[in-house]
Amino acid sequence: MEKRGRLYAGKAKTVFETADADRLILHFRDDTSAFDGGRTAALKNKGAVNNYFNAHIMEKLAAAGIATHFEKILGDNESLVKRLDMIGVECVVRNIAAGSICKRLGLEEGLVLDEPLYELFLKDDALHDPLINEDHAVLFKWAARDELRVMREMTLRVNRALQALFAEVGILLVDFKLEFGRFHGDILLGDEFTPDGCRIWDAATRKKLDKDRFRRELGGVVEAYQEAALRLGIDIKV
Ligand code: TMP
Ligand code: ASP
Repeated sequence: MEKRGRLYAGKAKTVFETADADRLILHFRDDTSAFDGGRTAALKNKGAVNNYFNAHIMEKLAAAGIATHFEKILGDNESLVKRLDMIGVECVVRNIAAGSICKRLGLEEGLVLDEPLYELFLKDDALHDPLINEDHAVLFKWAARDELRVMREMTLRVNRALQALFAEVGILLVDFKLEFGRFHGDILLGDEFTPDGCRIWDAATRKKLDKDRFRRELGGVVEAYQEAALRLGIDIKV
């Protein structure tokens, strides 16, 4: 697929147009960002690791019947995807308390929740991605009520599929964030699923295998992503 002009550069990916108006190329960079851009660094090989990680997860989700934008890997750092009209709301599921919910509600990290907790955030770094509910999203026209219902159902299905996938290799799926978009009348899972946008812990030791290693300056960030990938049987070619 022929790469055309750069459409958009996010904090960790650059998006390119292609000759096909319905297809984009995602380029996973080594750039890493946390705290809404407050801390950034380039971590060698992270882009390629995340590209292969994302491809594997998106293929597993497709096999589980979840419609995604992913089409195929094009190279170490690039994948071809469908061009979505993105919905600017972030869908989060938590199975174990960590991160912002601990601060917000005074919970201890590691509290296992009785059932998956679904939360919505507005995708807006300048506002620090505030927590919202479905009524905000409808009122301010970020998404329609029926779209939000589909997003919630799909996010909870992703949680069930990935909890099982990670459990098989001794990893706890603590929480994750998804983004969705519209494509010819359907809602598809877009963006990425990588250790940049989820929390995953070793089930035995609770060692963090995700971006909290970067947020908390624990070191071994890409090595931990690679460890998770290796356990999942992902063939990373770098
Ligand atoms: P949080 O604890 O910061 O609310 O994040 C919950 C999960 O969602 C965590 O795995 C990180 C991910 N996430 C992002 O990757 N980007 C975001 O902008 C938000 C709000 C969450
Ligand atoms: N809010 C997420 C984090 O703290 C993502 C981001 O800021 O880029 O990592």
